Amino acid sequence: MSDQPGPQTKKPFLYVVVCAAGIAGDVHELITAAQRANWDVGVVATPQGLGFIDAAAVEARTGYPIRSAWRAPGDPRPLPPPDAIAVAPATFNTINKWAAGISDTLAVGILCEAYGLGIPTAVLPHLNSAQAAHPAYRLSLDRLRGMGVMIGSYEPHSPEAGGGAGRFRWEEALELLTPRLSAQA
Ligand SMILES: Cc1cc2nc3c(=O)[nH]c(=O)nc-3n(C[C@H](O)[C@H](O)[C@H](O)COP(=O)(O)O)c2cc1C
Repeated sequence: MSDQPGPQTKKPFLYVVVCAAGIAGDVHELITAAQRANWDVGVVATPQGLGFIDAAAVEARTGYPIRSAWRAPGDPRPLPPPDAIAVAPATFNTINKWAAGISDTLAVGILCEAYGLGIPTAVLPHLNSAQAAHPAYRLSLDRLRGMGVMIGSYEPHSPEAGGGAGRFRWEEALELLTPRLSAQA
């Protein structure tokens, strides 16, 4: 009997949107956890985020090219459409642009359209407390919550700490998305 996946066994497709946060180099943790949970995974990186990850290693792990820029008109779509999106890590910058509808990177463009398309989306912010203190940030989270986006529990690190790698739970993205997808099924 063939073990090739047929249309009836097609796995759900997860976009992992990676922003330019110091922790982004560990994104393989989320990719691996998602693949173990039976997702196919494609990565969309912000242009700045590309510099924070090992693109070749990510592409080898997912089997898909990383998307970062818009394709040329007429070019084929490099990734299948997503069944769900995890924005991890999500920067202060991308969160505020997404909430405001400023679609100036492919990553934010995909996120802005995901709302209208009804694609379940979870965001794991990774930022420091000085960034989080800006009034725009709370308003952005309130707006995204109102759009149905599920928001991770990371408590911003102190600006001097330089990151909170030990407290950032990559798998929380899957914990947030899975019940939403089960409810839709
Ligand atoms: C080493 C380094 C680490 C950074 N870590 C973060 C971070 O954890 N969170 C954040 O919001 N910005 C962080 N930044 C700032 C972002 O990279 C910067 O705001 C960038 O414009 C974000 O672009 P993007 O949102 O398009 O990915 C960091 C910058 C550097 C140089």
